[in-house]
Parts: sequence; C-alpha cells; structure tokens
Amino acid sequence: MKEAHHNRSQSSLPLLPVADNSPPPSPLCPPRLKSRSTVLELLPCRRRFLVLTCASLSFVSLVALSLLTVSRSYSPFALSDVATVVPSPSAAPSPNATVPEPVVDAVVEVPHSPYLLGPPTASFRDNLRNDTKYITSWISAGWNNDVMTYANLIYLGKITDRIPVVGIFTPSHIGGDVPPIAFSEVFDVPRFIKDSGINMVEWDEVKDPDSEVLDDLGCWNIWETVQYYEHFPRGSPIPDWVGLDLSYTRAPDWMKLIPNYEHDKCSTFWALARLAYPEDRQRALGTPTTSPQHHAVLDPDEHMVCYDYLYYACAQQSGEWESEYAPQWREVAKHMRWHPDLERIAGLYVNRVFDLPDDAEVPPYITVHARHGDFGDWCWQAEKPEDCFAPLSAVELRVREVQEEIRQKKGIDIPMSRVIMTSDEKNQTWWDDVKARGWVRMDHEALRTVERYGRWYPLILDSVIQSSGHGFVGTDLSTFSILSKRRVLDWHNGSARMVRWGFKEADAHRKRMLLESE
Ligand SMILES: *[C@@H]1O[C@H](CO)[C@@H](O)[C@H](O)[C@H]1NC(C)=O
Ligand SMILES: *[C@@H]1O[C@H](CO)[C@@H](O)[C@H](O)[C@H]1NC(C)=O
Ligand SMILES: *[C@@H]1O[C@H](CO)[C@@H](O)[C@H](O)[C@H]1NC(C)=O
Ligand SMILES: *[C@@H]1O[C@H](CO)[C@@H](O)[C@H](O)[C@H]1NC(C)=O
Repeated sequence: MKEAHHNRSQSSLPLLPVADNSPPPSPLCPPRLKSRSTVLELLPCRRRFLVLTCASLSFVSLVALSLLTVSRSYSPFALSDVATVVPSPSAAPSPNATVPEPVVDAVVEVPHSPYLLGPPTASFRDNLRNDTKYITSWISAGWNNDVMTYANLIYLGKITDRIPVVGIFTPSHIGGDVPPIAFSEVFDVPRFIKDSGINMVEWDEVKDPDSEVLDDLGCWNIWETVQYYEHFPRGSPIPDWVGLDLSYTRAPDWMKLIPNYEHDKCSTFWALARLAYPEDRQRALGTPTTSPQHHAVLDPDEHMVCYDYLYYACAQQSGEWESEYAPQWREVAKHMRWHPDLERIAGLYVNRVFDLPDDAEVPPYITVHARHGDFGDWCWQAEKPEDCFAPLSAVELRVREVQEEIRQKKGIDIPMSRVIMTSDEKNQTWWDDVKARGWVRMDHEALRTVERYGRWYPLILDSVIQSSGHGFVGTDLSTFSILSKRRVLDWHNGSARMVRWGFKEADAHRKRMLLESE
C-alpha cells in the first residue's frame, strides 16, 4: 500500500542548516490573468464554497461526516466542497451502515464578525471598520508550514494591535486540482479567539469569495530583502483567490536579521512590526512596483498592512518553533486547536486501527511519525543510503522512552499494541517489521480516507492523530513532527522524542552520551 499523501512531502520542510529550505511557490494558480471578467479562465483558480444541501447520504460509515455540516460560529461558510465527496454505496462496506437523516439545508444565518462592518462585500475595503486596523499575508509552502506562516501572521497582528486577516489553505503539495480548505474548517476559530485572546477574521468574511472585483493593495515585499536569489516578492496563490492586484515596496535592508547572510531568511517580528506603524513606515517607503492588472502604483497600505511572506519570521532566531520560548507557538499556535469534527473523525480512525468499536472511548496511544520520502534528499552525511534513516530498532528505543515517561508521569501503561505508525515509507519489508513490533499502521488507503473526505484529509488527520496521543515519536528536523510534538506536550502533558537521522547511528544517543561522559 502506498501512502500517497506523505509522498507529497508531508507539507513540511526540513529545517536543515546551510541549505535553501524554501519551498517553491505553489503551482496552483496561473500568473495573474488579464482580466477577472473571464469567468472560465478563472475557474481553476476560483474558490467555490458549496453550501451542503445534500438530500440524503446513502452511505455514511462515520457519523462525523454528517457532523461536518454544522456551521461555524460566525463564519458564513459551512464547508468547502471537499467534504461533499460522498462515496458510492458499494464503495466500502460499513460495519454499521445506517442511513442518516437527510441534511436539508445546513447553513443558517450567522452574524458577522464584530471586527467587520457586515457580511462579506464585493470589495474588501467596504467591509473594513474605520476604527480598526488589519494585517494580512500569504502562504507559499506545504500545508504544515502554511499553518506556521498563518500563526506568524496572527502573532504579528497581536503585537501590532491589528486584526489578522487569514486566508485559506491552498493545496500546493496534494495536487493543484484539490479545492482549498478554509482555516476555520481545520481549526476551531471561536475557541482560538477565546483561548488566545487574539481576534482574527478570515478573508472570506471580509470579501465575498464570488466577487469579481479586483481590489488594489499596496504590500511590503519582505522576500527580496531576506534572500538573494529571487528578485521579486514571494509568489502565492492567495491574492488570486481573494482577488487582489498588488503593488509591492521592497522592505529596507534592516529587515533582515543577519545582514548579508544567505543561509538565513529571518526577519524578526518586531522588525516587521515597525513597518506597521506610521513613522517607521513613512521612513521605509520606496518605489512601489506597478501592479500587474490595474498598473496601480501604491505605497504599502496603512489600513490593511500586508506582507508577502511570513514563514521565515522569527522572534530572535530561525528555527525557534522547537524552542520553549517561541512566542508564535506559546501565544498563537498552541491555541489553534483542531476543529471538533476533525477531532471526532481522528478518534474514530484511532479506534478503527485498534479494532475497537467506533463509539468506544479512544484509548491512550503513542504515535510515531517516520518521515522518509523526500528526506532522502538530505542524506549526504550517510556513507550508504541505508544508513540515512534511523532503523526501527532506534525508533523503538524512543518509543520505550516515551512509554516509560508516560508511566512515570501519568501512571498509564501504553502497550506496544497501542503504537500507531504514520509514515510515507513504501518498503513492504519495513512495514512488516513495524507490524512485528506490535505497532499498527494508519493506512488511509485501507480506510478510504480520500474517498470519504477528500485529499486534504490523510494529511490533516495524521496531524490530528499525532497530536492527540499521550506520546509522540517524531522525525528530527521535520516541521510536521515539531508541531505534533509541541501539541502532545502542551495539550496533553504528554511525552515526546525526536529520532535523529542522516548518517549511521545518528540517533544512538545512549552510546553517544556514554562516550561524552567518558
Ligand atoms: C452500530 O451502532 C450501534 C449504535 O451506535 C452500536 O450499538 C453497535 O454496536 C454498532 N455496531 C457495530 C457493528 O459497530
Ligand atoms: C467611521 O464609521 C462610522 C460608521 O461606520 C461613521 O459614522 C463615522 O463617521 C466614521 N468616521 C470617520 C472618521 O470616517
Ligand atoms: C503534567 O505532568 C507533571 C509531571 O508529572 C505534573 O506534575 C503536572 O501536574 C502535569 N500537568 C498537568 C497540567 O496535568
Ligand atoms: C526494505 O527494508 C528492509 C528492512 O528495513 C531493508 O533491509 C531493505 O534493504 C529495504 N529494501 C529496499 C529496496 O530499500
């Protein structure tokens, strides 16, 4: 069985030093079209939020699918068309095939965000309050790193007293034909606002996603200041989805944390924040580029301050998502809890792989994330290819450490049969070895995840499942693993370890510690 979703590089990128770890811009959208009036041309790039009015779902094996139709608190969209993928009755036998009540019209009238004037408008400016300032930025990597990018945006909004305007997730690594998924379909936004004390809105609440209006906006170009290879702002599909024609001003050189250093792309949150305040903005103004459609030449906007790309934003140093102090985690991403529907589906999945009834209480478990696949490109330190990734014996040692720590900390015994392996490994012998250790496999092909929920879900559900256990064993340098680790630690007071790799015995820590102490 292949794990196609991991193959799409798991949406996270290695944080390896001395290398360009920047993902290529998403190929989702073509370069800006001549005019937005040609509906057909725009179709592949248009976001279509469908209102789910399906009459009857003849087959729903997981109750959660119908739960998905419950509308979010104040967001005007029930769900994207991804969830309307309804498998045919013959597609998969259900152990409990009940026909749920038809869902007639799940969308109810919902009030708009208090940080906007009203429901989404054709032009975004018509919905901005004159007593509120906003901040926005775009995504341009795989999903997990895009989660980090939006968290950085929200943190920057917090420290600049601006309302972050967050976009959708576009499917750069899972196939350009996959419809995007809303931030609030993945994360529990009302809970986030309550727990973090940070207000935010989504672009769909600001501007009607079906609007044909192309709005002009002046933005800061950070990308060209922090790296030296691309002489243009970072590309992103989001401005196209929103309908924005951008004029960019290159940010001043002091924006870059380490001047003239090509291997680091960080600009600190406070350097970025300076541009969001009138005096420093004024001093930093330069020559804006001409927007591609309307040929508008605009200084960076003050009402809706805009940055091209914030993935590389940091508080004090790059790669600090792993650090305890990281404010973008502690104050923002920590409060980005999964949408309750995702948690429910993940619970059902865990029960399924453990052969437990769907309605059983989800048992304590440990997840392993063994990312191989494209990490094979980072094996230059390994003498032989098979030395690059840690052997399962090393992974098992980490699992045992996590088991032991959970036992000590919480008094819970998690047996080897409650260990879930998530991996993009294709080698069947390796999987046989996984099985021989008593571990189970999260096999989205067998579980028909794509057919049931769409192509976003194998990836997102793995993340939800990894972050919902008492223990986690991840792959060192994987940002996907880093987020799961932090969630397990901070959400569940759990235990986590990272397995090092890249050369023979890279994770042989016991031995190494012994040598060091000698
Ligand atoms: C089917 O669902 C019912 C009610 O939720 C439950 O009691 C029963 O055990 C389920 N059967 C199977 C085979 O899962
Ligand atoms: C701000 O907007 C309110 C209505 O939304 C309006 O009454 C008021 O005059 C506006 N203030 C300014 C300074 O434009
Ligand atoms: C987490 O575990 C530690 C160590 O056993 C314990 O002292 C602490 O109370 C726990 N915290 C929570 C929030 O459960
Ligand atoms: C598959 O995995 C096994 C065990 O991990 C290993 O010995 C073997 O060389 C692998 N085969 C390939 C083709 O990589």
